[in-house]
Amino acid sequence: MTAEIISGTQIRETILAELKDEVKQMQTKYGKVPGLVTILVGENPASISYVTLKIRTAESLGFYEVQDNQPADIAEANLLALIEKYNKDPKIHGILVQLPLPKHIDEKKVLNAINPNKDVDGFHPVNVGRLMIGGSEVLYPPCTPAGIQELIVRSGTETSGAEVVVVGRSNIVGKPIAVMMAQKGPGANSTVTIVHTRTKDLASHCKRADILIVAAGVPDLVKPEWIKPGATVIDVGVNRVGMTDKGKAILKGDVDYDKAKEIAGKITPVPGGVGPMTITMLMKNTVRSAWFHFGGK
Ligand code: GUN
Repeated sequence: MTAEIISGTQIRETILAELKDEVKQMQTKYGKVPGLVTILVGENPASISYVTLKIRTAESLGFYEVQDNQPADIAEANLLALIEKYNKDPKIHGILVQLPLPKHIDEKKVLNAINPNKDVDGFHPVNVGRLMIGGSEVLYPPCTPAGIQELIVRSGTETSGAEVVVVGRSNIVGKPIAVMMAQKGPGANSTVTIVHTRTKDLASHCKRADILIVAAGVPDLVKPEWIKPGATVIDVGVNRVGMTDKGKAILKGDVDYDKAKEIAGKITPVPGGVGPMTITMLMKNTVRSAWFHFGGK
């Protein structure tokens, strides 16, 4: 049996259409739109391309979008002052500081300076704490885990009582998605195991998974024989394994996709699976923030 492909590209379009509707409702109710500032420090090519995509998506939804580019040698104090300016700006509901930052800037200090109620990345310790508490406490779930949960739910995968195995324990993906899937509530209520580089028998854990989420950053780490027949497999890996003749990066996930798709029930491709969801969820968090700041739906 060949697995059903969970297309992040298609699910993205559905969610963006929902958000566009919400922005229209917001305009009708409050006469205002969500405001997002993207702060880019320096000229890292990957960061420029991410930020450009974020700006384009925000504009396509009718957001008020501020693009604030700063030189790589900006003093840390000046960056902190800039963040404080946007913390106070009533037209801005989401503040995004593109990472990584230049070495002379303390990333933690910068992320902690963002007003948690405008932290649409969900990286501020207050939002990490809110995520841990769960339920209505959660304002801004971090974007990649939120996108993974949307893919699981919208693909019709049952999560309640499901065995979820998360491969990887990063602060951005592994830890938060594990917490989210274990919470009480819709799209969750799962039994969760986190496995990592020190886990003794990776294969035996993966074989138990009804939902296998792999965010290890190791191409083809997960072998087809580790997959339970019929499982939902979410591959978060984006590994550059070479270049095409035209100079385009060849991407590979953490799962041996070609073989895994013959065993899994549902599977995300790389590219076109989790990737398109991260920016989509940033937009969703910004709309959520705007509602929150305006006083509700
Ligand atoms: N750099 C790479 N991914 C991200 C992200 O999700 N948010 C921010 N702020 N920077 C990033």
